[in-house]
Amino acid sequence: MSVHSANSSATAAATGRSRAVKAVIPAAGLATRFLPATKAVPKELLPVVDRPVLQYIVEEATQAGINDVLLITGRGKTSMVDHFDRRPDLEARLENKPEILAAVQRPSELADIYTVRQPEQLGLGHAVGYAESHVGDQPFAVLLGDEFVKLDQPLLPAMLELQARTGGVVLAFFEVDPADTKRYGIASVEPAEAELTDIGEVVKVTGMVEKPKPEEAPSNLAVLGRYVLPATIFDAIRRTKPGSGGEIQLTDAMELLRNEGTPVHAIVYRGTRYDTGMPLGYLQTVVQIAAEREDFGAEFRKWLADFVNSDASGGPNT
Ligand code: UTP
Repeated sequence: MSVHSANSSATAAATGRSRAVKAVIPAAGLATRFLPATKAVPKELLPVVDRPVLQYIVEEATQAGINDVLLITGRGKTSMVDHFDRRPDLEARLENKPEILAAVQRPSELADIYTVRQPEQLGLGHAVGYAESHVGDQPFAVLLGDEFVKLDQPLLPAMLELQARTGGVVLAFFEVDPADTKRYGIASVEPAEAELTDIGEVVKVTGMVEKPKPEEAPSNLAVLGRYVLPATIFDAIRRTKPGSGGEIQLTDAMELLRNEGTPVHAIVYRGTRYDTGMPLGYLQTVVQIAAEREDFGAEFRKWLADFVNSDASGGPNT
């Protein structure tokens, strides 16, 4: 991917461990923050301009060299899998429209997609537990189904390299306004070992607090929806009791491993992160990505500027 990958493969190889080659996308959640839109349509399929959120996420995985993707799905969410299937009937009608044809075929060419169902929505940790038989005893990446990062500012390659070097749990953090800590999982950290710092901005994690008040927050580093985990997480999930909200939390399972000596590190991500899990973040994502489109971005930005500058009660009539 970048200079990092070339150097670091050698270093990861020196540890005798290989990089994770499978990704798990938990996408079985009920999406209560986006109801009623998500009553019949999975939030992972909401369009960001002309591609569903889930396609951006799978593209993020494949860009990092992962082409084995397990989707954790649930009731009413099978259409997510259809998006990555071929549509010969549709393709036959698009022979004279090569650009649209290529766009329709692209999802089916991205990766090998596998699925497993989480029969009851008992939490993110519980959902990840369903990946065990697919993943086996190798480390794997987890990409939450409602969040992605800008493709030209990748995060996953550095996380995969870090995990291959430490063999432990690898997280990603982004900085939030200290006043906003109560909306996120917040980490306490210390400097990472010197030999890991060539990978990027790496920190060692010493604890996690769910949604702390600003005065109680140990930092302003919030957890981003990307993890690279060792297979020992499955046993930890089995040993994790329901926690906040009565759900089996992935954070609790990771804390169990950390307390038993598994190293936990994180990359501090400074690129652009899109959170499509609720209406405001979703709208911000759509606007940002639309504004950057080569085909109509300039026209959209002009319209948006006019709209914002116009009388709020009416808006321009374009
Ligand atoms: P969220 O906390 O965003 O939950 O889950 P949610 O159900 O999707 O949405 P809200 O909070 O009710 O609006 C984080 C990720 O974990 C998955 C979700 O699909 C999402 O990708 N998840 C969560 C599961 O797969 N199963 C669960 O039981 C819970």
